[in-house]
Amino acid sequence: MALRIVIVGPGRVGIALARRFSAKRVTVCGFVGRDATRTAAAVQAAGVGDVLQFADLPRAHVVLFTVGDDDLRSAIQQAVAAATPRACSLWVHTSGRHDLSLFDGVVGIRRGVLHPAVPVVDGPGGAAGLVGAPGVYHGDANARHLLALLCEFADLTPIEAAAGDRVLYHAACALAANGLTALVDVVQRTFARSGVVADASASALGAALMQAALRNCHEHGAAAALTGPVRRGDAVTVALHRAHLQAALPQVLPIYDALSQVALALARADLPADRAAAVAAALRGS
Ligand SMILES: NC(=O)c1ccc[n+]([C@@H]2O[C@H](COP(=O)([O-])OP(=O)(O)OC[C@H]3O[C@@H](n4cnc5c(N)ncnc54)[C@H](OP(=O)(O)O)[C@@H]3O)[C@@H](O)[C@H]2O)c1
Repeated sequence: MALRIVIVGPGRVGIALARRFSAKRVTVCGFVGRDATRTAAAVQAAGVGDVLQFADLPRAHVVLFTVGDDDLRSAIQQAVAAATPRACSLWVHTSGRHDLSLFDGVVGIRRGVLHPAVPVVDGPGGAAGLVGAPGVYHGDANARHLLALLCEFADLTPIEAAAGDRVLYHAACALAANGLTALVDVVQRTFARSGVVADASASALGAALMQAALRNCHEHGAAAALTGPVRRGDAVTVALHRAHLQAALPQVLPIYDALSQVALALARADLPADRAAAVAAALRGS
């Protein structure tokens, strides 16, 4: 018998997961949303299932809540109020921030979290981006096997998580994905103000530098991967960067300073004390 899944939350993650599941031995029964038109649009975008109601949840072996973090609690309450959960069904949410306690008080279910640790965008790119991405899962002992299987069905690489501090975990995810995206924007604006390369080249230049840095970090660790003026102790260069940023893009200077402080902490072990002190002074503007 195929595994039946109902998805509560017809947004980016729900649609992307439905697209991946539909190619496997999984029946996506459909979506429960809070707006019939948007839910019907999700059914069409996913190419699978029907518009369902909370009362339909007992049809499913797996109820997948892909609802925004701030709406999750009330969506679960609506689900509980609408129908008695199917015995031993797996209720799982995809939030990075929340733990299993959101399901406390829901009787007779198995509880899980399956966080696709990847930025999921709108459209077909969302489903494509899931392939090979980490699926960080955590759940009751009797839920873990099925959670790992769901990762496999979604083409995610399963990573079993401990309970831990999920808010800190999610902050790390946000720094990695959204922080990097914000940094890309800062880099592009700085290239543009320099006038040295055309916009099209600047985009490729920024991407090449960031990809090489990421690859080096992954292969050698952050301290060994660090290069550049802070790593070399070139305090005059650092002072010039700061002066030109202050003149052209003052809003970028605090970002440059904060990142350079982290770089200096990484570099200190290999930097002569006088050069480290000179860089620290340059970063203080003295
Ligand atoms: N996007 C990512 O990159 C990503 C990656 C990993 C994990 N996540 C997690 O996945 C979850 C969903 O994220 P998302 O980006 O897919 O959000 P999203 O695109 O905003 O989708 C959330 C969906 O939930 C629906 N919803 C809200 N309250 C509801 C309720 N009470 N009952 C039924 N449906 C309800 C919303 O409907 P309306 O149309 O009415 O607003 C919307 O369709 C979040 O917990 C997020 O942290 C996201």
